[in-house]
Amino acid sequence: MSYTEYNEYIYNVNYQVYEKDLCVLEIKSLFNCSIQDKVFFSNKEVNPYISPFLKNRLKIIYKTSCFLDILEFVENEKITAQDFMVKYLELFTGDNNAKKGKEISKKIGLRITGFPCFSNPKTIFGVTFYKGIWYFGTLVSNNSKWKEHNSKPYSYSSSLGINIAKVLLNIAGNGDFSKKIIDPCCGVGTVLLEGFFAGYDIIGWELKSKVADNARGNLLYFNYPPKVTTGDIKDIDETFDASIVDLPYGNFSNTTEDNEMKIIRNAKRISKKLVLVSSENITNEIVKENLKIIDYCKVSKKETKSFNRYIWVCQ
Ligand SMILES: C[S@@+](CC[C@H](N)C(=O)[O-])C[C@H]1O[C@@H](n2cnc3c(N)ncnc32)[C@H](O)[C@@H]1O
Repeated sequence: MSYTEYNEYIYNVNYQVYEKDLCVLEIKSLFNCSIQDKVFFSNKEVNPYISPFLKNRLKIIYKTSCFLDILEFVENEKITAQDFMVKYLELFTGDNNAKKGKEISKKIGLRITGFPCFSNPKTIFGVTFYKGIWYFGTLVSNNSKWKEHNSKPYSYSSSLGINIAKVLLNIAGNGDFSKKIIDPCCGVGTVLLEGFFAGYDIIGWELKSKVADNARGNLLYFNYPPKVTTGDIKDIDETFDASIVDLPYGNFSNTTEDNEMKIIRNAKRISKKLVLVSSENITNEIVKENLKIIDYCKVSKKETKSFNRYIWVCQ
């Protein structure tokens, strides 16, 4: 079989126990599958860096039950690459082959035509062993560069955590960058930063001019377009595929219940899909607005479980 005939990827995820539900909801939104394991297969190509939980993606070029077949395959197919490296991909803890990872990679690397490069490789080949099968392919890992956003110049104690922000985008956009997304109450732009990093088509609105200025400041700091309008959600007249609404609520804002209901109502008016976030359980309010809840998740910001966010996906 020619290696170009495969269209299958292996992904692995990792998460803290308290973020498991968030990870499950993200994977469901991106891949339309439920995960039992931290390793899964999909035909869909997703860049791991758009997620806080996806660690690696191996595009399968060849699979076999016998390692030596890989060496033969690489030679027969005359696999060629410049500035490449081969890495053993440890998909799960306790993988005994990982201990011999360097040796395994070297054997393959010696059969690839071209110059290896270990400091800044252009192509990374991956090899791994999972449930009795050896897999060889091209590897993309989550470089976690997005964590730089944690040092944004303007922040609030009530700002969303970066992991939640990334997941909200993937719930709203399902990894489809052609979808139009709005964060109509964007605060200092935590979601927008992750949206631009991933490549989503997103804009923000924010009622308070000082806060909107800070959101623009955060975006410019990382060279993203400062697409934030100062204004009230009620004045938005465009429509969107999805809105991500981190509601001002409870102790974190001096907003009123009327304003919250107004925000939900207007988010429904301007978008087909709503991803609502709150620090309080507002299921009743959502139902009152005749929104259909299609998914739900509760997540704590930190391991201490001191601060919860509820997420509702509605239509
Ligand atoms: C919970 S904060 C959003 C925080 C944001 N996700 C972040 O991480 O920075 C909610 C924001 O909604 C804004 N807001 C309140 N009422 C609004 C309205 N009617 N239209 C637009 N924004 C509004 C508030 O000023 C506040 O900045």
